[in-house]
Amino acid sequence: MKPVIKAFIFDAYGTLFDVHSVMEELEQYFPEKGQAISQTWRKKQVEYFFMRQIMDRYKPFDHVTRDSLIYAVKENGQNISAEALEKMLNAYRKLAHYDEVSDVLKRLQDKELIIFSNGSDNMLRPLIDYSGLGPLFTDVISADEIKQYKPSPAAYLHALQKAGVKREEVLFMSSNGWDISGAKSFGFNTAWINRNGLPVEELQLEPDAEYRDLSGILKWV
Ligand code: LAC
Repeated sequence: MKPVIKAFIFDAYGTLFDVHSVMEELEQYFPEKGQAISQTWRKKQVEYFFMRQIMDRYKPFDHVTRDSLIYAVKENGQNISAEALEKMLNAYRKLAHYDEVSDVLKRLQDKELIIFSNGSDNMLRPLIDYSGLGPLFTDVISADEIKQYKPSPAAYLHALQKAGVKREEVLFMSSNGWDISGAKSFGFNTAWINRNGLPVEELQLEPDAEYRDLSGILKWV
């Protein structure tokens, strides 16, 4: 018997928005290296906010996203101009959203729909506005409000308090194994949007459901 869900809380990058949809712009600056740079960019972005959380050296997501792009370019034997850096960070504010997102959200309009992201407002808001998805959401919460990155429990607690429901009344969605594990550890109901067909993380924190895309969550209404 599935619990009654009052708030659907969505991770943003990788779950609603495709972080690798900047590859075309990367190819313009770095021919033949767009995919490699994009993969390392995301990997290092996540690593850096993990490391800053553990070292207690918080910097917001825009700072970490800039730093991780610079690293990814250098790891591929390239350099990036100030102009190209700004262009790429702007491209990150126009990421494509996945095809099924809008239709699924429209079918959940009687529920609380919340984005909860490690993204800072100066990246999240332009991205959501550009996508046209903004009016479908009840709220947008950034971890930057308390300067504690997911998967720290404090981050999920902040989102829960702002959502104004009980832990067990939340369904949390993320495509990121580290994030869905953190949400499960915190006590949310969890639906892993496993877009890349990856194995479950070896953390003994099995998600409550696993779907290849967001449409599977309609089973919870
Ligand atoms: C988010 C990405 C970092 O929190 O998963 O939106």
